[in-house]
Amino acid sequence: MTTIPVSPASFHISDKIASSVYEGLMSSPKWLPSWLFYDAAGSHLFDQITHIPEYYVTRTEREILAQRAGEIVSRAAGEHALRLVELGAGSADKTRVLLSAAVERQDTVFYEPVDVSASALVEAQIRIEEEIPGVIVCPRVGDYTHDFDLDSTLPTERRLVLYIGSSIGNFEPGDSLMLLERVRAALDPGDCLLLGVDLVKDESVLQTAYDDAAGVTAAFNRNVLVRLNRELDADFRPETFAHRAVWNTSESRMEMHLVSDTKQTVWLSALDLRVTFEAGESIHTENSYKYRPGDAEALAAKAGFAHEATWTDERGWFAVCLARAV
Ligand code: AVI
Repeated sequence: MTTIPVSPASFHISDKIASSVYEGLMSSPKWLPSWLFYDAAGSHLFDQITHIPEYYVTRTEREILAQRAGEIVSRAAGEHALRLVELGAGSADKTRVLLSAAVERQDTVFYEPVDVSASALVEAQIRIEEEIPGVIVCPRVGDYTHDFDLDSTLPTERRLVLYIGSSIGNFEPGDSLMLLERVRAALDPGDCLLLGVDLVKDESVLQTAYDDAAGVTAAFNRNVLVRLNRELDADFRPETFAHRAVWNTSESRMEMHLVSDTKQTVWLSALDLRVTFEAGESIHTENSYKYRPGDAEALAAKAGFAHEATWTDERGWFAVCLARAV
């Protein structure tokens, strides 16, 4: 493998995308950060993934939330009024059952979805306020992975922060702890966190979930190269990179890779960078960590939360954990 930086000192990398792509493609083995997936096309492909038969994650979590919404909301609220905050809300699709359950307990529910996409937030606000009278949506555009603070609440209120969808699984273990610590620091004692984590299961189930028959996940993975072509003026030929999904037992994670079919050189004009790939060489594009029973509770405890309750589906494939800030 040879990577040739043509003139590394001749440009100033200030942009987050440019600097991470430069670092990832100059590394050995090569990698790209998984947040790069989510441009408009990638977000649309991810939405499609959530509907494919093999991708059990979204469906299974939705089932748990639908069955347990009343219980979750009343345990989190106690005698207080509940205010819901959602990290990385996107379309806030699965949140509706929780909001409906909260509206049954109290007349008005404040809901603060936090997301980097202003357009997704506006759409969610219109839809939710129309569909669930009593919910007042207060959208917040922001990157909760970097800075995170919340408006103060009344003494009669408690917050329930939702971090669902197995989003925590895309963070490295140290980063997921830091993220939960940041959330904890923004909360008051008594506020709650609802964490959705995907559990370790039969390898074949995981394998097909991340390499579906219709090739939607493959298109999602390759879309990152399409994005680099557009945004960094690169000349990747995405069709020459195979999608590979691998279960890494020792790290307890599904990995996604893009594997070059052939020896080739790619030019990223905006970075003034030429990158050479050997035939069979991979770019590691995503980790999706799978938790063992008890892992999520232990992580939340390290971040300053006490375990309240955990709900799973019948097959034990997914867990939703409620933890209280201490
Ligand atoms: C967003 N995230 C929780 C998904 C996951 O399962 O790790 C992203 C994804 N990657 C491939 N399929 C779905």
